Amino acid sequence: MQTYSYFCNTRIEMGMGKSEQLPELLNSLDIGSSILLVSDPGIVKAGLAAPIQTALEASGYRVVLFDSLSQNPRDTECIAGAKLFTEQGMDAVVAVGGGSAMDVGKAIALLGPNGGAPIDYCEGRRAYTNISPIICIPTTAGTGSEVTRSAVITESFTHRKFTLKHASLRPLLALLDPKLTFTVPKSVTAATGVDALVHAIEGYTCKVANPISQALGARAMQSIVSALPIAFRDPEHEQARYHMMEGSLLAGLCFGSSDVAAVHCLAEALGGLYDTPHGVANAVFLPYVLRFNTQEEKAIHATLARIMNFAAESDKDEIAIDKMIEGIREFTNKLEIPKLKDLPGVQIEDFPRIAELAVQNNSTPSNIRSIGAQDYLHILQQTYDDVV
Ligand SMILES: [Fe+2]
Repeated sequence: MQTYSYFCNTRIEMGMGKSEQLPELLNSLDIGSSILLVSDPGIVKAGLAAPIQTALEASGYRVVLFDSLSQNPRDTECIAGAKLFTEQGMDAVVAVGGGSAMDVGKAIALLGPNGGAPIDYCEGRRAYTNISPIICIPTTAGTGSEVTRSAVITESFTHRKFTLKHASLRPLLALLDPKLTFTVPKSVTAATGVDALVHAIEGYTCKVANPISQALGARAMQSIVSALPIAFRDPEHEQARYHMMEGSLLAGLCFGSSDVAAVHCLAEALGGLYDTPHGVANAVFLPYVLRFNTQEEKAIHATLARIMNFAAESDKDEIAIDKMIEGIREFTNKLEIPKLKDLPGVQIEDFPRIAELAVQNNSTPSNIRSIGAQDYLHILQQTYDDVV
């Protein structure tokens, strides 16, 4: 019989317009009076950070903005943010944005009081202690970082992505307001939405999945498959935006208590090398990794096909799997996700390096089917040739 643990010490507040309640929620949390507001330049430009800063300042908080970060955030950016955190005598981090802002916010809350570089914690040279309070306000429905214990950072020198992972990196408060996603560009809605779907699929199927992750993942998949095409077509569709934010939250709770797997290992390798948006990288590999995994693991994937309504209850497993893979290809095509060979910078000569980086990813052992460098190479070539 399986043994498993489940943790989530994050207070979750979800609702349309909920972000307006941030000051009163912070007042109840006793996090100090000086806040580093971590965001990214796109979010600041879109006008999503200013109302939050204004509301906090009106409630008596001292707020300093840090928004010098990229879409695949680098260790150097985390170190710069931590320096500002220390110099300004900050007490807590409020991260407003997508996965990059939230992951950098987590790293700053770790590095600010403790020093060093992100890789020191990943490789065990420094301990995850004395972490400042982290509050996350997602502006995309995708990453789930607002409830996870991880932060994915790119090592500038090697372009390798690595993951800070510790229970104390879970935010104190996740404040989810679907209204903040209304102005997200269509391509970002699509890519981040598919990222959330992959979180649910991998969190449900990977080797360390458990009944809790599967219950959360199943509900997340259903929400995302039905709501994402609507949110993509109609950005201000309140119901669709609401269900996408809920789906990404549940998907975050799903993989946060299990793991991601081979799709993410390839996507993170690609993103580290070419700065490909994380969700796009996940979306391009998903059907091909599913084909690889389903060659050995049929029953669980046939169940997935039925959960996501790509197949009927009466379909035999093989048929259900084929319908799911074809259904996901159509799903991502309709979301106008580009193909691997059309992504900037991608070269076949780099495939052995991408395969090697994927093998080195800590989540490779979690993939439901054992996978090695040759398998990754084969999947990369199939994805490039678009042969599933
Ligand atoms: Fe992801």
